[in-house]
Amino acid sequence: MDHYKLCITGGIPLVGETYVSGGKNTACALIPAVLLSDDVCTLENLPDIEDVHVLMEIMELIGCKVDYRPDDKTATIDPRPSCDVTVPYSITNRMRASYYLLGALLGRCGKAEVGYPGGCAIGNRPFDLHIKGFRALGARVEERGATIFAEGEMIGNNVFFDRITVGGTINVMLAAAKANGISVIHNAAREPHVVDLANFLNSMGAKVKGAGTDTIRIQGVEHLHGSTYTVIPDQIETGTLMIAAAATRGDVTIHGCIPTHMESLTAKLLEMGVLVTDSDDAIRVRTVRGHRAVNIKTQEYPGFPTDLQQPMSAMLCRAGGNSMVTETIFEDRFKHLNEMRRMGARVNILDKTAVIDGVTELYGAPVKATDLRAGAALVVAGLMAKGVTEIYDPGFIERGYEHLEEKLRALGADIRREEI
Ligand code: EPU
Repeated sequence: MDHYKLCITGGIPLVGETYVSGGKNTACALIPAVLLSDDVCTLENLPDIEDVHVLMEIMELIGCKVDYRPDDKTATIDPRPSCDVTVPYSITNRMRASYYLLGALLGRCGKAEVGYPGGCAIGNRPFDLHIKGFRALGARVEERGATIFAEGEMIGNNVFFDRITVGGTINVMLAAAKANGISVIHNAAREPHVVDLANFLNSMGAKVKGAGTDTIRIQGVEHLHGSTYTVIPDQIETGTLMIAAAATRGDVTIHGCIPTHMESLTAKLLEMGVLVTDSDDAIRVRTVRGHRAVNIKTQEYPGFPTDLQQPMSAMLCRAGGNSMVTETIFEDRFKHLNEMRRMGARVNILDKTAVIDGVTELYGAPVKATDLRAGAALVVAGLMAKGVTEIYDPGFIERGYEHLEEKLRALGADIRREEI
């Protein structure tokens, strides 16, 4: 249990200008990708979050020379001294994206021994498709207790994913970048961070084509050189700030984002009656009247992101009418709604669907964050509610949102930490 709780006095519309930080899930793929380089790489616009801190520890642990400057959002990493292919479970279980060490080390050394990943408890999160991908490229893969062992010279091949997997797509891209021959990933994920990884690899001299479509073609190259690269803005943080602005009936402009990444959310907010306008790299969200209920079904990009389902369904608890929220990606991503019942939310959960009967008021109550986006959803709930909401275990939020409390406070929110 965390040693502090977040206390939010709700009912204050968020107003003003804010900015979005570098992408969590992008940074988590780009940092291990540095292992494929034969020279120093510099990553800019890294979010100052727990997942990035853990990855920097892992890179140092396996022998990289890391100069990480969180205040400048920059890390210069020299992978040349790295010679260790073993990453223990005691560190890999602190985050999900530690599984990218497998693809990156296989691509670099043809060998990897990496502990099982941790990450948010949002359902069963198997690893079988990553393993199938590595095997298709010629690796021998064994699961040994808490560790996955993989070995073999990477040879280009076709990889067919039975279902779309973001992590699997990224891991196979890492393993294939320096493989002997051409690899083609079919039914690939199209998320913005898959495209950003391809751009980073190509900036190092890789030959990756088709990222952003469902077929990615990778011509393996022998060497990758150093690069300086800027991480794209966080799509999910942008969406969370948009939802928080709308939920509090506020008026917020979010700078430094990529509006085209937000189209599925923008469409739903417009359907609810929220005013959304955008320019090249900013989005303004305003609410002038009550919200209408809408139905949501999570899907892979460019569909509605599962990572925004939680904050969005929190907001729908106060929309006029019944909303149906269907979660198709992870089976256990409604825990925040159970917590919100204590705040007055009326929710009926049937398997993959939550039926939300919007109420006119939510009331502050003690609630518990169970995972990263559940934490963000409860922050949205607290900002909307009358009275004080106390969020226990808010540490999850720090894994994925850079300085969220400060950003919300600057927009007028009454949010503070209290020791317990
Ligand atoms: N799946 C399998 N087998 C596999 C891999 C995935 O059955 O080998 C299933 C999963 O169980 C899930 C679906 O395929 O039902 C999609 O999973 P995916 O592999 O796409 O998810 P992930 O790589 O584990 C990443 C993000 C998640 C985000 C999902 C979906 C990172 C580190 N994590 O997870 O982010 O929800 O893609 O977009 O990039 C978060 O940021 O809060 C978060 C959970």
